Amino acid sequence: RRKIIIDTDPGQDDAVAILMALASPDDIDLLGITAVAGNVPLPLTAKNARMVCELAGRTDIAVFAGCDAPLTRKLVTAEHVHGKTGLDGPALPDPVMPMAPGHAVDFIIDTLRAHDPGTVTLCPLGPLTNIATAFRRAPDIVPRVQEIVLMGGAYFEVGNITPAAEFNIYVDPEAADIVFKSGAPIVVMPLDVTHKVLVTRPRNDAFRALGTKVGTAVAEMTDFFERFDREKYGSDGAPLHDPCVTAYLIRPDLFSGRHVNVEIETGSDLTLGMTVADWWGVTDRPPNATFIGDVDADGFFALLTERLSRL
Ligand code: BDR
Ligand code: CA
Repeated sequence: RRKIIIDTDPGQDDAVAILMALASPDDIDLLGITAVAGNVPLPLTAKNARMVCELAGRTDIAVFAGCDAPLTRKLVTAEHVHGKTGLDGPALPDPVMPMAPGHAVDFIIDTLRAHDPGTVTLCPLGPLTNIATAFRRAPDIVPRVQEIVLMGGAYFEVGNITPAAEFNIYVDPEAADIVFKSGAPIVVMPLDVTHKVLVTRPRNDAFRALGTKVGTAVAEMTDFFERFDREKYGSDGAPLHDPCVTAYLIRPDLFSGRHVNVEIETGSDLTLGMTVADWWGVTDRPPNATFIGDVDADGFFALLTERLSRL
């Protein structure tokens, strides 16, 4: 049973990742959720995270508000993908549970200090601002991290916010640079893998067929989320980026990748936020991350749908 902190900017796909974690108490001990600015500004991501907990009936989960802007840059958001609220699609009620008191960064630091070294995994699903701020402020926590399993970056699939960069890394490349250079063990779910888990019509129908509040909400979220990819690219369905992180925690055997060196571009305007992964080992730069390249998509959806049926 892995102890985790989910750091997130919900986002429909973040929401599904959180629901999957909440549905998996035998595998995942969710210590808390930290919200960060990303898909939409912080007040909305902090609100959406609580709405998702309440959808699952879990008002006991501590949700902390974190950084409201990247380390040095102006926030870039993604309403064009996620809608004005960040969680467009289902009509969810406003949350009644309060925010947990204190700052997300303090929660991350305190939690890593309070647990035995190597027992807490960080799961960033948005820009890496909270994590980098925690690492910078409290370097002693870095060797205590069991693993960072994050959604971000791209290699063969290159960019979704610029031709070269994936959104989460692009929004705060300086934060990503700090995290990738930290020395903590990292597993990366890049677009290369998340673009293989598409919510096709039959997969969406399977969520709806659960006949539960959660199943219906997930179907409505992915319906909304997919219109962007369908209209723009004629693709088969929405890529379920962030749930790859949760699925990996439960069933790492569904994924395969390579342990490689990954560096973040922070200088060039043209390729800002690019994850330069040495996939072919053409440099002698030491590997610092496992870059996932492939997934058993049917296995992933079978797992996700079965887990959602538990809520
Ligand atoms: C990532 O960006 C966000 O829009 C999604 O929630 C996901 O975390 C995909 O590039
Ligand atoms: Ca996200």
